[in-house]
Amino acid sequence: MEFIRKGYDFLFTHNWLATFYFNFKMLPFRQAVKLPFDFYYGVRFKNLSGKIVISAKGGIRRGMIKIGAQGSDMFSKTDVVIDLRGKLVIAESVTIGLGTLVRVEKSGKIVIGNGVAIGAKSVLFCEDSIIIGDNTITSWDCQIMDTDTHSIKDTDSLKVYERSKPVVIGERCWIGNHVLINKGTVLPDDVIVAACSLCNKNYTPIIEPFSIIGGVPAKLISENKRMLGDKL
Ligand SMILES: CC(C)(COP(=O)(O)OP(=O)(O)OC[C@H]1O[C@@H](n2cnc3c(N)ncnc32)[C@H](O)[C@@H]1OP(=O)(O)O)[C@@H](O)C(=O)NCCC(=O)NCCS
Repeated sequence: MEFIRKGYDFLFTHNWLATFYFNFKMLPFRQAVKLPFDFYYGVRFKNLSGKIVISAKGGIRRGMIKIGAQGSDMFSKTDVVIDLRGKLVIAESVTIGLGTLVRVEKSGKIVIGNGVAIGAKSVLFCEDSIIIGDNTITSWDCQIMDTDTHSIKDTDSLKVYERSKPVVIGERCWIGNHVLINKGTVLPDDVIVAACSLCNKNYTPIIEPFSIIGGVPAKLISENKRMLGDKL
C-alpha cells in the first residue's frame, strides 16, 4: 500500500514540468541537475528575472525546497505564484505552502533560513528586505510585507513617508494563522504570534525571547513560553 501511495505521489502530486523548468532556469547547471526545488500541484511563474542563491550548509540535495506541497490535504489546490525580480536567498528543508504568493521587487531581497515553513495561501511581498530566521514556521493565510506598496504624503508639510522598511523575523518563531507582519517588524528569536494579530514595529526592545504576543497591533500576552515541535 505504501509503495502504491509513494508511486501515486511521485507521479501525480509533483509538478514535474515546473520542477525541471524552474531548477534549470534559475540555478547553475551543477545545482540544477540535483533538482533542489520541488514543485507540487499548480504554479504560475509571473516573473523570473531575479536571482536565487541557495545557502544550504549541508550542500544541495534533491527536493530540499518544497513549494506548493504543505497542507495539501486541508486546502483546495490553488496555484503558487512566483514573481521574482529581485533576490531570493534560501536554505535547506524549506517548505512554502500551496496558494502562496512570493513577490520580490527588483530592489528587494528575501532571506529564508534553514527549516522554515511558510503556510498555505500566504503572501511574501518584498521591496526592501525580509529575513526569516531558521526553523521559524508561519501558519496559513499569513502576510509578510516590508512595504505599504503606496506612499503616504503629509498634506501640511508635504513630507513623503517611507513606504518600505526591512522585516526581520527571528529563529524558531511560530506565527499563527491570519497574522499580518507589516513593514519595520522585527521579532526576536523564539516568539509566538497569536492568530489574527498585526505586527508593525521593532519588538526587540519591548519583549524577550519566549514571549507570546497578540492583538491588533500585537502586544505582550505571556512570557516564558515556547512551541513544542519536531525541530524545537
Ligand atoms: C498563541 C495561542 C496558541 C495562545 O494560546 P493560549 O496560551 O491558550 O492563550 P489563551 O487563549 O489562554 O489567551 C491568553 C490571553 O491572550 C489573549 N489572546 C489570545 N489570543 C489572542 C489574539 N489572537 N489576539 C489578542 N489576544 C489574544 C487572550 O484573550 C488571553 O487574554 P486574557 O487572559 O486577558 O483573557 C493562541 O492564542 C493562538 O493564536 N492559537 C492559534 C495558533 C495557530 O494559528 N495555529 C495554526 C497551526 S500552525
